[in-house]
Amino acid sequence: MRFLVTGGAGFIGSAFVRTVLSRDPEAEVLVLDALTYAGNMQNLATVAHAPSFRFQKGDIRDPQAVHRAFDLFRPNTVVHFAAESHVDRSILAPGDSVSTNVQGTVLLLEAARDHPPDLFIHVSTDEVYGSIDEPCSADESFPLHPSNPYSASKAGSDLVVLAYGRTFSLPVIVTRASNNYGPYQFPEKLIPLMIANALERIPLPVYGDGRQVRDWLHVDDHCSALRTLVDRGRPGQVYNIGGRLALPNLEVVRRILHLCDRPESLIQHVPDRPGHDRRYAMSTGKIEVETGWVPRVAFEDGLRHTIRWYLEHPEWVASVRTGEYLDYYERNYVRRGEAACG
Ligand code: NAD
Ligand code: TYD
Repeated sequence: MRFLVTGGAGFIGSAFVRTVLSRDPEAEVLVLDALTYAGNMQNLATVAHAPSFRFQKGDIRDPQAVHRAFDLFRPNTVVHFAAESHVDRSILAPGDSVSTNVQGTVLLLEAARDHPPDLFIHVSTDEVYGSIDEPCSADESFPLHPSNPYSASKAGSDLVVLAYGRTFSLPVIVTRASNNYGPYQFPEKLIPLMIANALERIPLPVYGDGRQVRDWLHVDDHCSALRTLVDRGRPGQVYNIGGRLALPNLEVVRRILHLCDRPESLIQHVPDRPGHDRRYAMSTGKIEVETGWVPRVAFEDGLRHTIRWYLEHPEWVASVRTGEYLDYYERNYVRRGEAACG
């Protein structure tokens, strides 16, 4: 099996590469990644020297880079993770989300038309459904109501991928996963940011009242679901992937503080995210019934293990919290707080 993994130097993509290379001795992997602020070769250090692993630095918005990957490697499975993946950054710079997530995806699909793989998996998110009122949950046919530039660009790319499946008979699958957590996650997302701040004993910024609800999925469970769909997914279909869990953000933050042995007084309520989705909730019966996959990592265990990973990798955390990150932190948190105070 020849896997082209876009965005394979990021959080979930690198976990998927580690999963494939440890489970499939016959597999070959090419990672295509632009190494943006979120891409990090340290995430691939454990597989970098494997003979079955190759890396191509390249932007999915660059037709030459994309065609080179398909021409030279001739993948039979494409797993497309590359994206601008963070809501808050998409609010600060919406155009980046649209160009990478929509236009980059179109270029990959065009290359796939020239060299058709057996399967093209587009890794998407539950955020495309938007905020879901109690007691509903979104199944795969639920209308798309994205609220922010990130989720809108992912919804756009989902539709383009499905359209290429119909129009050009490409064997595509769209997956929509809930919020992931685990080792190697860039400390801009809720869980790693709160862990990093708790360990440093600096305030934990909770948006608004902190009662927004998210479903949490361990990254290893996400990767095993994707690997299962490579074997058993039906082309042309959408699959929701979730952790069967729903927690308010404040509860997650309190658990992190407790596990890190830090006081709740570190919690700081900050002005809410514009357009903040109140609740995500998906039905995940389709993948479970069709393939037998179920999430296996209990949140308490996954969270404890994740905190231990950040404690044991201070050099990784220090290396990503550099000038670019500090600048982002200033723009997203400090200036937002100042603006709210007038
Ligand atoms: P990430 O931000 O950690 O990694 C993104 C990777 O894509 C990085 O390695 C980056 O260098 C690369 N990249 C970005 N723009 C690129 C471009 N133009 N060309 C080539 N490479 C580029 O993201 P993640 O959290 O690992 O998410 C991966 C995918 O999973 C995304 O498509 C995201 O929408 C989706 N997803 C994420 C979550 C989550 O909770 N993190 C949940 C559901 C779905
Ligand atoms: P995030 O990890 O950015 O994922 P998403 O927006 O894709 O769900 O945020 C998860 C939740 O945590 C979301 O409701 C926003 C909230 N949040 C905070 O309260 N403070 C923060 O500093 C961050 C990054 C997120």
